[in-house]
Amino acid sequence: MLDIQKIRQDFPILGEVVNGKPLVYFDNAATTQKPLPVLNALARYYEHYNANIHRGIHSLAEKATSAFEASRFKIQSFMNAARVEEIIFTYGTTDGINLVAQSYGRKFLKEGDEIIISTMEHHSNIVPWQMLCEEKGCVLRVIPINDAGELLMDEFEGMLSEKTKLVSVVHVSNALGTINPVAEIIEKAHAVGAKVLIDGAQASSHITIDVQALDCDFYVFSLHKLYGPTGMGVLYGKKEVLDAMPPYRGGGEMIKEVTFAKTTYNDLPYKFEAGTPNIADVVAAHNALEYVETLGKEQIAAYEHELLVYGTEALSSIEGLRLVGTAKEKVSVISFVMEGIHPEDIGVILDQQGIAVRTGHHCTQPLMQRLGIVGTSRASFAVYNTKEEIDKLVVGLERVKKMLS
Ligand SMILES: Cc1ncc(COP(=O)(O)O)c(C=O)c1O
Repeated sequence: MLDIQKIRQDFPILGEVVNGKPLVYFDNAATTQKPLPVLNALARYYEHYNANIHRGIHSLAEKATSAFEASRFKIQSFMNAARVEEIIFTYGTTDGINLVAQSYGRKFLKEGDEIIISTMEHHSNIVPWQMLCEEKGCVLRVIPINDAGELLMDEFEGMLSEKTKLVSVVHVSNALGTINPVAEIIEKAHAVGAKVLIDGAQASSHITIDVQALDCDFYVFSLHKLYGPTGMGVLYGKKEVLDAMPPYRGGGEMIKEVTFAKTTYNDLPYKFEAGTPNIADVVAAHNALEYVETLGKEQIAAYEHELLVYGTEALSSIEGLRLVGTAKEKVSVISFVMEGIHPEDIGVILDQQGIAVRTGHHCTQPLMQRLGIVGTSRASFAVYNTKEEIDKLVVGLERVKKMLS
């Protein structure tokens, strides 16, 4: 059993007062708050061993380098990657997807090849593929969903052919909370010889990730949704696939030797890490993962599921409120609309009560178009949220109704 009150004390920001009310933070799918071990690691890095990595021989540079590389080992074990060089540091999920589209896509895809994504993708798993399709003449195909927000797997199977070269789907939908059957998707895509990228931006904080068991070719996520710092993410790729890919950005660190006639590139993972990386945030990511491991990923998931069940029941009892996204397999994300009330107005009135939710299209405009709505209000729960906070949300929503309907 997790001691939630004790956990809350690890997150100083939860003591903030917003608009005269204690903060209720339900915008965790956008970014989670950071615990003290992460905040302290950032301060410790800048106060005691800030230095540029890899190229220095002085003590500070060595200390910074070893902390930076220790984080890579931590992430390798967090995802159960076979090799540490399969872990590429990026600036986030968006950056990782663009890297694959621009490097793998430009080298290996050609006119007429097909890329499959799904209706519930975040814009960052749509636009990079559209850009590639425009450049190379590839065709983007989209797996449809049912009204509950679940992928139509029969339709997906029907789309697969020898033309399919890449499948890129979200593990967990940020707008609906749906958990997609990614293992099955990967197996079916591999059967026609396609490579598979999984967008794990939302999954990484709720689900145990095992890239070897999944057998995906690429897996991307952002640490800021996993109690870690912003501006730091991970691209996992199978070594043989990454080895075959050209560099994405040129500059320092990604080279072995440069002459004006020719440059030879560095080995993995450095081939994809041009320039000075986000050292402090990579270092502190280690502490975020340690924090999650100390609490226990399964215990976190079980508690969040309890919040999901409680919140779903509580919000369903509000007349005029309709849940959007009712998949059988869900994480702790509740999206909803209220009859005759614009989602933005809901967000503003809840904010006046200190309650932070996200409103709008959640960077999933095509999904909103499919569902026939402009947007939703979304409450997304993390390990430090409580049932009492959900009760406050219900009171807040009743107030919204009174004020606006
Ligand atoms: C499913 C999904 N994919 C991609 C992203 C983009 O992540 P980032 O902004 O950290 O690059 C998000 C962020 O909300 C997301 O929820």
